[in-house]
Amino acid sequence: MKQVSSIAPGKIILTGEHSVVYGEPALLAALGRQVEVSISSGDSDRILIQTDAIGFRGGTSIDEVVSYWKKAFRVWESYIQLNEVDEWKAIATDPLVILKVCLGLVYDELGSCGGVDIQVKSSVLVGSGMGSSASLATALIGGLGSFFGVKWSKEDLYERVYTVEQIAHGRASGADPTAVVYGGVVEFVKEKETKLFKHHSLPKNKGHFQLINSGKPAETTGELVSMVHTQLLTERQTTQRKIDAIGKLSRDVIKQIEKGLIQWDWISENERLLEDLGVVGLQAQQLIRSLEGEGIMAKVCGAGGVAVGSGMILAYHLDWEKLQRACSMTDKQIYPVVLGVEGWHLA
Ligand code: PMV
Repeated sequence: MKQVSSIAPGKIILTGEHSVVYGEPALLAALGRQVEVSISSGDSDRILIQTDAIGFRGGTSIDEVVSYWKKAFRVWESYIQLNEVDEWKAIATDPLVILKVCLGLVYDELGSCGGVDIQVKSSVLVGSGMGSSASLATALIGGLGSFFGVKWSKEDLYERVYTVEQIAHGRASGADPTAVVYGGVVEFVKEKETKLFKHHSLPKNKGHFQLINSGKPAETTGELVSMVHTQLLTERQTTQRKIDAIGKLSRDVIKQIEKGLIQWDWISENERLLEDLGVVGLQAQQLIRSLEGEGIMAKVCGAGGVAVGSGMILAYHLDWEKLQRACSMTDKQIYPVVLGVEGWHLA
């Protein structure tokens, strides 16, 4: 029986979250955690899905996913052009939005080329700043393309994943899919409609990292991006100043990396700027302050979160023992960090 296994890593944003939506550069790394999608032939027009990431097991039809995708795209366009938020929010908060939009987009493009059975296994936590939506979309679209024998380049794959990310996140910059599709450590910038990226190497002797889960955000990435956008409309000058400051910091960090030197002390400054922007809730702020008390530098590394948790916190120290001790003193879940792994590929 024909079967395809498609793998996409997660990602973390080292610097530039939120400001990247407004044309500032960001530095990201593909993360050593992954989504694996296995695809095999199914019944004529049925799609069976089993996913451990969101605990879903069920079936749908090709027609259903195609109409879902068409509606989601229309609703997203009205949100961007006419600021019609309510209908878009209902789509963006659907736990199955990525799955259904990806399937609909592919079947709409390829026509009814037969049903499939899909299994998703993931070590990328959902909605926590690890890039779960970009990695699921990449593994799924890349896998379906290969399963149906379509010759999509990585650029073709990227463009499709970016469309899905925009529907789910409203004004997505396109940074996450760059790290996930192409892998490595990438500088990303979106200048108007042009998206540019460049690979970098992190200098050796870079110290040590861990990810600490500050708790799942109550808000989606799309809601947080939309919150900053509203702030920009209502308090233009102060919000623009904060975005510019994060952009400047990202540029400085990228310059350090290009020279082969990196001082990670900017992590704390980046965290302060994100707090100032209002995307880090009290729970994560307290956690970060207690880590800082132990000499650890830490920042949120995705969209953040306000009401409850703020997703993953990237914690850094030159000394592994000190980092370990301080992280284990928190009562939070801790994850090892491998940065700059391979991007999308077939197993
Ligand atoms: O929380 P994540 O992993 O989805 O990252 C979002 C990053 C933002 O800059 C807030 C949005 C974007 O599209 O770049």
